Amino acid sequence: MTSDIAAGAAGPRLVVCGGRRLGGQVVVSGAKNSALKLMAASLLAPGTSVLHNVPDIQDVRTMQEVLEYLGAVVEFVDGTMAVDTTAVQSHVAPYELVQRMRASIQIMGPLVARFGHARVAMPGGCNLGPRKIDIHLRGLAEMGAVVRSDHGFVEVTAPKLRAVDLFLDYPSVGATENLLMAAVLAEGTTTLENVAREPEIVDLCKFLISMGADIDGAGSSTIRVNGVKEMRQAEHTVLGDRIEAGTFLIAGAATGGEVEVAGISPHVLDLFLSKLRSVGVQVHESPHSIRVSGELGSYRAVDVATLPYPGFPTDLQAQMMVLLSLAEGVSVVTENVFENRFGFVDELIRLGAEIRVDGNHAVVSGGRSFTGAIVRCPDLRAGAALAIAGLAAEGSTELRDVHHIDRGYERFEEKLRAVGADVQRLAAADGGRCG
Ligand code: UD1
Repeated sequence: MTSDIAAGAAGPRLVVCGGRRLGGQVVVSGAKNSALKLMAASLLAPGTSVLHNVPDIQDVRTMQEVLEYLGAVVEFVDGTMAVDTTAVQSHVAPYELVQRMRASIQIMGPLVARFGHARVAMPGGCNLGPRKIDIHLRGLAEMGAVVRSDHGFVEVTAPKLRAVDLFLDYPSVGATENLLMAAVLAEGTTTLENVAREPEIVDLCKFLISMGADIDGAGSSTIRVNGVKEMRQAEHTVLGDRIEAGTFLIAGAATGGEVEVAGISPHVLDLFLSKLRSVGVQVHESPHSIRVSGELGSYRAVDVATLPYPGFPTDLQAQMMVLLSLAEGVSVVTENVFENRFGFVDELIRLGAEIRVDGNHAVVSGGRSFTGAIVRCPDLRAGAALAIAGLAAEGSTELRDVHHIDRGYERFEEKLRAVGADVQRLAAADGGRCG
């Protein structure tokens, strides 16, 4: 425990001086969860594919390293990334990279489809619990691949994948993406049923179609893929990040401010926005932006259950819990997607929340106010949630282990400062408190 704290203190920290109402506009970046898969998909074609609106975040930099490890040449300037796969020779994703970022396993489908071979370190568990890849592997095996595991790696070999009808056990986002990317070059028509319907899947399908794939049904639970002989390089703009948008909207509401997020269609956040309205937040939708405003003291409790899209996103559960802590009454939050996603609750309690966790339910007793403290970010979205709690808190909150936030939010504190937050990033040695 002591060493954990020492480690957190050693890295950069964010110091948040709370109690200010946020106001203004935030332009959302490209979606992390789309950009990473589009980068993997570029492996399907020889030549150079170009992606625009790519967020400059640590996970994207890690995926860049994965592609470079395989032999691709990647240029990333001002949000535009060019991936040249001409010299790809290796088909291996090493442990160091997969362990740093689980989404590295998304190279499996494209590599097997184009080169007939992939060897990828098994991702193992993470802070959100044991995250299996059985659905990815079973699908590839049914498509005719030989799947073996040894020495902590999974090896997938298939001189030519064949089309099949697959019914996924669960609409896993990652499995849907890996199997889609495998199916585009398989022989015949693949039908994938019970697939994930997330907007990022639709974005991936759009990119695959512009690369020459023949896909029908993206965004529904059944996708049909007519295999093609080869894919070609393409150009695509990554869609806006709905989780980043949701995070800033909650930050606005939790400080009793007025915040607009631009670069996002409201329909990708339908259920989330309806929950904000039920809490008592005013929500105004425009075709490409969303604005919220609210009065602290007027919010009421609401129950929330996470589910695959179009359900409430698990990636906004922690942030929502902060808002519910400020709302009058008792809310029940049920986490249905990941086994272990309440790891941040103890940190939130240190700031003043009253939450009891029982299995996959969290009972949030609202009407609380936060006071600043030192907290550590246990994972990416929990880190953002703790930052929001800090913004709503009286006094100074010091966030440690902010490398988690840097994995997925582009210029996080800069965007917060632009809407009036008092947030500073401190190097390890610096001290800092609110004046
Ligand atoms: C993606 C997102 C993540 C988001 C999640 C759910 C990326 C990089 N990450 O993660 O931010 O929280 O979707 O919206 O896009 N499962 C199995 N077997 C499998 C695959 C998954 O049991 O083969 C289980 C997982 O353990 C988990 C659940 O299914 O409990 C959801 O996982 P999945 O939808 O695959 O999420 P990811 O693609 O890992």
